[in-house]
Amino acid sequence: TTLVARQAVARSRWSRAVAVVRGFEEDCATPTERLQRIVNSLSVEMFAGLASEGTSMVRMLLTCVDALPDGSEEGIYYSVDLGGTSFRVMKLELGSGSMVINKKVEHRPIPEDLTKGTSEDLFNLIALALKNFIQREGGGDEGRALGFTFSFPVRQVSISSGSLIRWTKEFSIEEAVGKDVAQCLNEALVRNGLNLHVTALVNNAVGTLAMGHYYDEDTVAAVIIGAGNNASYIERNAAIAKCRGLLTDSDLTVVNVEWGSFRSPQIPLTPYDICSSEAERNHYDQAFEKVISGVYLGEIARLVFQRMAQESDLFGSSVNCLSTPFIFSTPSLAAIREDDSPDLRVVGRVLEEHLKIQDVPLKTRRLVVRICDIVTRRAARLAAAGIVAVLQKIGRDGTLCGTTFVRKIRGEPKRSVVAIEGGLYQGYSIFREYLNEAVDEILGDEIASTVSLRVMEEGSGIGAALLAASYSSTRQNSV
Ligand code: GLC
Repeated sequence: TTLVARQAVARSRWSRAVAVVRGFEEDCATPTERLQRIVNSLSVEMFAGLASEGTSMVRMLLTCVDALPDGSEEGIYYSVDLGGTSFRVMKLELGSGSMVINKKVEHRPIPEDLTKGTSEDLFNLIALALKNFIQREGGGDEGRALGFTFSFPVRQVSISSGSLIRWTKEFSIEEAVGKDVAQCLNEALVRNGLNLHVTALVNNAVGTLAMGHYYDEDTVAAVIIGAGNNASYIERNAAIAKCRGLLTDSDLTVVNVEWGSFRSPQIPLTPYDICSSEAERNHYDQAFEKVISGVYLGEIARLVFQRMAQESDLFGSSVNCLSTPFIFSTPSLAAIREDDSPDLRVVGRVLEEHLKIQDVPLKTRRLVVRICDIVTRRAARLAAAGIVAVLQKIGRDGTLCGTTFVRKIRGEPKRSVVAIEGGLYQGYSIFREYLNEAVDEILGDEIASTVSLRVMEEGSGIGAALLAASYSSTRQNSV
């Protein structure tokens, strides 16, 4: 009887763990109609964000970019790209006809303490890296134009300056809020003896749009799906009510949507989401970002594992790291795949290496795969809804060309290219497949065939250098 009783206890623990996963799966469901409602409400927010300041959840920041690179840029330019888990310095040599003659890039990790320290230390680190990079490249590039990709919300009144509105993605250097970040970098460059200053301050979504447009003028929007997520797109000045009068003579302005702060009861949230946890200071803060982007996906999965471990003894009793926040990174989550091998060997290894859980039985490994898949699928499908919302905002989602009659007047739907950058989309094939599939599902095959999602490798940094080129005199930078 003791054995029978023990088996019964084990069975009931197992079924409690399975119930945790089932509940999570139900809470994360994103059927097409729900995605469609998210599309509609995000695009309504985008309209509101252009009407007046502070009335929308999405900031719709005006970027002061009123012309995008067209391939005629020439010369040598530098860029610095800050905003994720690492920063990059880049040298770009351009020839006319959309020709990148030479490109050198260096990636550097950002020590975590610097993301929460002082702005001086952070900007010094970048300036020093740029100085060493220029020296290694042979020096002598003083005075050249510099593009600065700074991927946080910034208020801009000129292309070469802008004040930080707030930090996102777990960066928090409070004293920097409100400061002109281009000036912070310029001062650090001077401190480090560099005669270079910021010519173009751009968000990564804007940089990626610039690179997309450099290669293909049908590029209408750009999306970042990496450590954070966001979009930018080309807007008609006539549609921007909030700053009429301040806009340039050009007809167009690039808008940085800052969609990470979008929230809606339609976004499927679960008790494991970082934005819905009691501990979170700002409830539902950056909700859209926290269910989609790389900084958070691994953490959501960890919280589900932890709950399963509380409900059962699925992960055994050895000491593990399940209760350490952010220990399970998104790259680890991406390494968990159903097709690794019949006995899910890689899954076992990832759990052992990253969470210190040993000898996880196969059926538990299968549950782990399922949890990671649920987290990934919801994120990718929500990102797809975001992309369609931007297309809807600019009338490229097909809703305006439904009937034959309307088509006669307006013509056939135009080709729309959306430039994409970010590790989640580029490096995580399942995520990419889910996202592409959901875009097709929401738009329908006919309109989806007019939309291309095009990866722009290093788009944010290259785009910043391209914008530095567009907004500086070519003489100064000619080779
Ligand atoms: C965050 C930032 C935004 C950036 C995005 C992608 O949402 O607020 O500016 O573009 O991350 O890195």
